[in-house]
Amino acid sequence: MKFTLNGSERTVEADGNMPLLWALRDVVGLTGTKFGCGAALCGACTVHVDGAPVRSCQTALSDVEGKSVITIEGVGGEVGTAVVAAWRKLDVVQCGYCQSGQIMSAVGLLSENRKPTDEDIDTAMDGNVCRCATYQRIRAAIHEAASNLA
Ligand code: FES
Ligand code: FES
Repeated sequence: MKFTLNGSERTVEADGNMPLLWALRDVVGLTGTKFGCGAALCGACTVHVDGAPVRSCQTALSDVEGKSVITIEGVGGEVGTAVVAAWRKLDVVQCGYCQSGQIMSAVGLLSENRKPTDEDIDTAMDGNVCRCATYQRIRAAIHEAASNLA
């Protein structure tokens, strides 16, 4: 399967039915994207495909052929940089397990909406579960990143 991964053309030798999450972690070796539930219920596996957040546990490798995939390792640009800086400034992370997925969803939100309300944030982040309950810091960090993108 050929696709663009974090800005570089990649050919991944694997069954097209393999979940993208496994291809990223076990074939390519990018382990920043996490396995949580395997059933599109937790958001830990969130990556971007053609700029939109998707659950890589429920995305077949064949579904990304010819597309652009961005993982936590490839987060950058104006929005990605602002989100990561805000996460650090507000010390969002606790155990960290969910946080790559949280950041990917936050970058997806701010790429579409530079001034999200609390309601916008809650809606966009609804599918990202945090067992450490860092939700208040996540919301604050998204507002912080938004203020730096103004
Ligand atoms: S591991 Fe994909 S949503 Fe939980
Ligand atoms: S920081 Fe621990 S699960 Fe979210």
